[in-house]
Amino acid sequence: MATIHIFVVFAVSCLVSVSGRTLNITELISYFTHGADVGYRVAIDKCTLNLPQQVAKYSFGDVIDNARVYFANNNDWWIHFSTRRYVNGSHFNITGPVSRLTEAFFTDRGEADFNLSDFDGKTGRLLVSGNINCKATQGGVHATTSTNKGKEITTFADVKASLGIGFNVRYHVNILKCNPNPQQFTGTVGWAGRISSHRLNINGDIEFTQYVELPTATFVMDVTLHKDRNVTLYVDSVVPDTRRSTGLLRKKCVLGTAGSFHIFKV
Ligand SMILES: *[C@@H]1O[C@H](CO)[C@@H](O)[C@H](O)[C@H]1NC(C)=O
Ligand SMILES: *[C@@H]1O[C@H](CO)[C@@H](O)[C@H](O)[C@H]1NC(C)=O
Ligand SMILES: *[C@@H]1O[C@H](CO)[C@@H](O)[C@H](O)[C@H]1NC(C)=O
Ligand SMILES: *[C@@H]1O[C@H](CO)[C@@H](O)[C@H](O)[C@H]1NC(C)=O
Ligand SMILES: *[C@@H]1O[C@H](CO)[C@@H](O)[C@H](O)[C@H]1NC(C)=O
Repeated sequence: MATIHIFVVFAVSCLVSVSGRTLNITELISYFTHGADVGYRVAIDKCTLNLPQQVAKYSFGDVIDNARVYFANNNDWWIHFSTRRYVNGSHFNITGPVSRLTEAFFTDRGEADFNLSDFDGKTGRLLVSGNINCKATQGGVHATTSTNKGKEITTFADVKASLGIGFNVRYHVNILKCNPNPQQFTGTVGWAGRISSHRLNINGDIEFTQYVELPTATFVMDVTLHKDRNVTLYVDSVVPDTRRSTGLLRKKCVLGTAGSFHIFKV
């Protein structure tokens, strides 16, 4: 009896894990900023390519674990993130692997743009770059979620317990609602993503770090979640060669549904 019961649970969980829901890009951005697990795949033959001949034209896909959120051109929502993969370097006549940085921009107009930069894995030298534009309406990009939107958790104790148990915990911060308010609108309105690693500092506050890598710089955000639900953000951009940092922003935000810093678990 117990064996049958375990089998049924196993079979159901398999069904759940392979089912997913298709999202349009507007929904993708909304799900992503409300704690859901989201991903996408690209059908390369349905996209517009501007790639050098050394870059093989393969379809690809990914989960979106961490992104910057923009409000661009007055009315478009964008998310911006990057991935790094190691690919075969033989086309470049180099012996080691090529390190490929793919910067992705998803807009609520239903498009995804990918800027690829291939670097020599050993020396870090830029070899080639190119880009790919995919439209959801043409079947070039297909966005999915494997979960519902998350349930918001609003107390420090709940966040700490959820992280400690290993729940899938995600955050979204609306920087425009943090202090000080930006004097000038820069286009970057927030960050969202998964808190995949954290630490407790000497005061027992929760700290974690997120980053988005660009070919020329890396945006880094350090987050400290204090017990009184205040949140300190420090957003910086670091230039790889020189390790120079520009010290972009320091912000105070507040955790909770009425605040600027939201945490969800699914
Ligand atoms: C995306 O889906 C939502 C909900 O079904 C719908 O309201 C919206 O118009 C769709 N947007 C686009 C660009 O298709
Ligand atoms: C890289 O590609 C070349 C040419 O196709 C092949 O001979 C080589 O085995 C590949 N290297 C790796 C590590 O896959
Ligand atoms: C590739 O590298 C080899 C060894 O360094 C060199 O002999 C050859 O000319 C190179 N080929 C090209 C196309 O650069
Ligand atoms: C992506 O590539 C296109 C074409 O080269 C370029 O116009 C655009 O500025 C790039 N985007 C970013 C953010 O680098
Ligand atoms: C937390 O935020 C509140 C409201 O902004 C403020 O009054 C309080 O001083 C802050 N606490 C700390 C420790 O910064």
